[in-house]
Amino acid sequence: MKTPIYILAIESSCDDTSAAVFENNKILANIIHSQTIHQQWGGVVPELASRAHTQNILPVVQEALRQAKVELKQLSAIAFTQGPGLMGALLVGSSFAKGLALALQIPLIGVHHMQAHIMAHFIHPPFPSFPFLCLTVSGGHTQLVIVKADFQFEIIGETLDDAAGEAFDKTAKMLGLPYPGGPLIDKYAQEGNPLRFQFSIPKNPSLDFSFSGFKTSVLYFLQKEKQKNNNFITENLKDLCASIQHHIVHYLVNQTLTAAGQYHIHQIAIAGGVSANSGLRKVFLEATQKMKMSWFVPEMQYCTDNAAMIGITAYHKFINHEYTPAEAVPVAHLKF
Ligand code: KG4
Ligand code: ZN
Repeated sequence: MKTPIYILAIESSCDDTSAAVFENNKILANIIHSQTIHQQWGGVVPELASRAHTQNILPVVQEALRQAKVELKQLSAIAFTQGPGLMGALLVGSSFAKGLALALQIPLIGVHHMQAHIMAHFIHPPFPSFPFLCLTVSGGHTQLVIVKADFQFEIIGETLDDAAGEAFDKTAKMLGLPYPGGPLIDKYAQEGNPLRFQFSIPKNPSLDFSFSGFKTSVLYFLQKEKQKNNNFITENLKDLCASIQHHIVHYLVNQTLTAAGQYHIHQIAIAGGVSANSGLRKVFLEATQKMKMSWFVPEMQYCTDNAAMIGITAYHKFINHEYTPAEAVPVAHLKF
């Protein structure tokens, strides 16, 4: 095995084109190009995402290598997101990675996007020790995952309908906010009253999640209020955002703490785009301090989609010789 190990990682599962370079487990560069074209459509348009990845991937990879001061000939492996994600978007990253690996005659490493979100905790210390419980909350997934020794993952709860990120984005859309609405709800919520409005949230005994009833209750509430006052949303935007966020955050935190109790786990982590939410980070910090649990949250830049999380996962796969054959295909609904 060549040492040090240099890995180029590529992430292209949704609307961010990203490339990262690692020297062993040390990050040298992480370039993220977030596509803005989707804002005018109110959500990610798969066809446009694929085209934008095709345009962006080469300059993003070149910039990552330039910042890392690593040349192609030094690379030990090429990593890419194999799924889950948008098929056309995944195909751009995987085809690029395959072509480069073939040209350089080096191994290819396919990475599971949701596992990579969790592995973002191993980019910078302090690292969680095993076992730990991770709440993974993104635009497409909401999962409670136990991470056992040797990076074995066990899903103990997941959403039955929408993901937490969708709950943020879809309620934001009801408020007339552009896509992605999650960060905007977070921003306005900081100046609003979280206890002003009540919505329904499931009180189910299982560790699974459901956001459809919550979404409907926000929709019906807004429709009713708008009939009385057409300016209801603009006049109450901050309180609406704060109340929506309060409900989602407390639901996520309560389910996670219930799971931790059931499985006797004392280390809690969060990952994925929604883990950037300031309300979620604050409530988890307070709850885990009170319960004397250890608490881990990735740096902001590693919460939303990024290639650094693909690179660190690939590093651990590389040292275990877990390579991906050249004929491997991306899988939109890749299983854990
Ligand atoms: O992990 P991610 O970047 O992409 C997927 O794998 O889906 O997550 C994107 C999701 C979007 O739903 C976005 O609204 C949400 O993460 N998000 C947030 C915040 N930042 C991103 N939601 C709430 N508060 C935030 N600050
Ligand atoms: Zn993601």
